[in-house]
Amino acid sequence: MSDNEGTLHFDPRIQDPDKLQGLSRRGFIGSMMAGAAGLAGASTLLSPVQEAEAAPLPDLPDTPDGGAAPDDEAYWEKVAAQFLLRDGVIYMNSGTRGISPLSVHKAQTEAVEAVNSDPAMCWSTYFFSGMDQIRKDMAGFVGADVEEIAFTNSTTDGMGLGFMGLDLKRGDEILTTNYDYGWVKNMMAFRAKRDGLEFKMVDISDPSFRMLEDPQKVIDVVESGITSKTRFLTICHINYTDGFIMPVKEICEMARSKGIITLIDGAQPPGMMKLDMQDLGCDMYAGPGHKYMLAAQHTGFLFLRNDAADRIRPLVYTGSPDPDRAIEGARKLEQRGSTSYSDRISIGAALDFHNRLNPEAIEARLRYLSLRLRRGLKEIDGVTVYSSDDPRMSMALVSFSVKDLNPSDIVGRLWYRNPNIYIRTVGAAGGFSGVRATLHVMDTAEQVDILIDRIAGLAA
Ligand SMILES: Cc1ncc(COP(=O)(O)O)c(C=O)c1O
Repeated sequence: MSDNEGTLHFDPRIQDPDKLQGLSRRGFIGSMMAGAAGLAGASTLLSPVQEAEAAPLPDLPDTPDGGAAPDDEAYWEKVAAQFLLRDGVIYMNSGTRGISPLSVHKAQTEAVEAVNSDPAMCWSTYFFSGMDQIRKDMAGFVGADVEEIAFTNSTTDGMGLGFMGLDLKRGDEILTTNYDYGWVKNMMAFRAKRDGLEFKMVDISDPSFRMLEDPQKVIDVVESGITSKTRFLTICHINYTDGFIMPVKEICEMARSKGIITLIDGAQPPGMMKLDMQDLGCDMYAGPGHKYMLAAQHTGFLFLRNDAADRIRPLVYTGSPDPDRAIEGARKLEQRGSTSYSDRISIGAALDFHNRLNPEAIEARLRYLSLRLRRGLKEIDGVTVYSSDDPRMSMALVSFSVKDLNPSDIVGRLWYRNPNIYIRTVGAAGGFSGVRATLHVMDTAEQVDILIDRIAGLAA
């Protein structure tokens, strides 16, 4: 039996399972009628999950030892077929919102079903003990100790827990770059005003800083913003703007030598590239579950190094007040009442999905697709590509602009024609302004070529 058969259920009041089984997965236009009185408003269209059930998705392909080759299209197309995207959509915005493959979607929806049908069992066995294993898997996935992982609701949530909970005093300086995320900069500016801190931002917009020979210039610019009063530094691991992989390890080493605590904005890398917190050497690292990891919306994690844990105070704490039973380490930051356990359960399924494909093979595939995109775009007159071709400097984010075309127009023109291609606008304060495609395993080489052709059409 297919991996994907048998676990989703039709509602026989509305749908006729025999009829549904005969329909093609993608070709159904919607002729089903709501069958039962009192079900006004029931959809006459199949949901993507029902379509997938009517003609089950192909199984995830067997993965060769060490993972499939990056250009094994037959294999990666079967992987892409695990996603529930409707026909005609090319989704290249995992850097903003990831979408879950069917196995992850089902893990989440089955958990919702479980909590509503057998809540007592569910709380005691499924969620709490299940989460212990997921925490171990998550720690293994990012090269951390299990005690160093807190589950959060998003990257921003993790950044907030780390930064807003840090012990800082009036006059302390906090530092970031102009390529960092607006919400993070707002949070820093807000706390600086409230608590009398000095908020500083160094300018790394010079594109020559991000050339093969010059990551040292980025390190030097960041260092130039440090004074004897600097206590906190945050940078992106991968700039969400131009996709540059920041020299995080070197910057964290330099910061540590000056007694500065580091919080890395890891909105992009988890699920895109292999991570090792011990090797990166940061004090904190905030990541999402809902982008490249492909888990549910409203999921994320914060890595908090054991030896930095005492510096971070929980903003909300609902654990035991008894010092002997108080929750320590990263998990103290999770003690904030109820959460959506079904969303968190999806993290386990997402990690299984990645591990089954092999994280190194995913990374190699994304490098292959993004190199193909960059090369194709660079051949088009009037297109400027901002992301580097050097694998040490760039991964699956490809930012570019088209001469005389405003970025929002490019996004609109790609979306409002068939196939609908979903990318986004991006820019940096003091830097460039353009569009960004973020490639993942739901994207195929053929789709990358379609994007290149469409951009060539726009540029012409
Ligand atoms: C660099 C960066 N930081 C933070 C965020 C916000 O992430 P989240 O939606 O997980 O809060 C994003 C979102 O795209 C981002 O690119």
